[in-house]
Amino acid sequence: LNNGVGRTPPMGWNSWNTFGCNINETLIKQMADAIVNSGMRDLGYKYVVVDDCWMNSTRDAQGNLQANPSRFPSGMKALGDYLHAKGLLFGIYQAPLDKTCAQYFNSYPGATGALGHEAQDARQFAAWGVDYLKYDWCSPTGTINEQVSRFALMRDALAATGRPILYSINSNSIHEKTGPMRNWGDVAHIWRTTEDITNTWDSGQTNGYPMGIQNIVNVNVPLAHYAAPGSFNDPDMMEVGNGGMTDTEMRSHFSLWTIMAAPLIAGNDIRSMSSATQTILKNANLIAINQDTLGLQAVQVSNDGTRRVLAKRLANGDVAVALFNQGSSTTTVSTTAAAIGKSGSSFTLLDAWTNATSTTTGAISASVPAHGTVVYRVSGGGTVTPPTTFRLRSESSGRC
Ligand code: GLA
Repeated sequence: LNNGVGRTPPMGWNSWNTFGCNINETLIKQMADAIVNSGMRDLGYKYVVVDDCWMNSTRDAQGNLQANPSRFPSGMKALGDYLHAKGLLFGIYQAPLDKTCAQYFNSYPGATGALGHEAQDARQFAAWGVDYLKYDWCSPTGTINEQVSRFALMRDALAATGRPILYSINSNSIHEKTGPMRNWGDVAHIWRTTEDITNTWDSGQTNGYPMGIQNIVNVNVPLAHYAAPGSFNDPDMMEVGNGGMTDTEMRSHFSLWTIMAAPLIAGNDIRSMSSATQTILKNANLIAINQDTLGLQAVQVSNDGTRRVLAKRLANGDVAVALFNQGSSTTTVSTTAAAIGKSGSSFTLLDAWTNATSTTTGAISASVPAHGTVVYRVSGGGTVTPPTTFRLRSESSGRC
């Protein structure tokens, strides 16, 4: 979508992964304060997204959505004002059918989905100062054509408000196992590509509930050709800092999300995060790779089942490369400057985690621990000569 927002992947925080339905305005304000005080806002984490369960179970007499009066007694406009005064942006959750996901699956009371109220809800969100809508199809039934028309209805309703709102959709409940059934870039800025994430490295799922990091990567990597400014695959909110993984696995999770041009939406409790978690979420080298203005998602250079190499071309001619060890013991993962599209005979490698730099005449490799990822920013040499999968849309016809 091209309405001025979401030209690079959105960054922020969402309440669902840690708090589920257990949210209220005090919690959201405390999180906003922590995002500012931790320095995350200034690194780009701007959207504070209130996920499911903020609503009252009924609409008012005019059919307007209302905040749950015990959880959000000051109302959603006041919360948006609080976030804006902190230099943050306000995100909210709604569903295109009659019920939200929590109303379907988690016994949250009511049936206040947007069905039949799309324009009214869009106007309400704009009046509250909403900057980001997560719109979540929550029914195992429905056809792809129904989804396209319902998601497009809200796209148009948001546009009609005149407020530039980042539009995030989730069609995952009727996904094929291989990911989304279409490129949703004509409908939304970001779209979920898998079932829900959990704080596990490998949940044993192909694309079923719930998904571990490795499982999501397997689905999301082949979708690289969908990514462009204003349109990004969304492999779900992050589980960095939520336990269930080693620090190596969490660094890998962040490395892979950044190089896949994924939305960087933290899902942990920012108020109490460890210094290790902070170091991961605040890695400026990786954030710069993620936020690169070309808006490309890393393409796969090689994958032998254990050693997987991904490369992301960057606006200044550098290429970011991820050397990912999917196996269960330390191994050397290698590629070359030529394989990632670089010409020339002398290159500099900046290790995104250690900040160390080294030079190479072409070999790019590292010893990588089990489930680990080393990311280098490769500079020097000639301009990128991209293989087909590495091109901007404007440089190629067809699927890239
Ligand atoms: C779905 C979504 C989650 C979250 C919940 C809320 O499962 O995929 O991200 O929004 O609904 O109920």
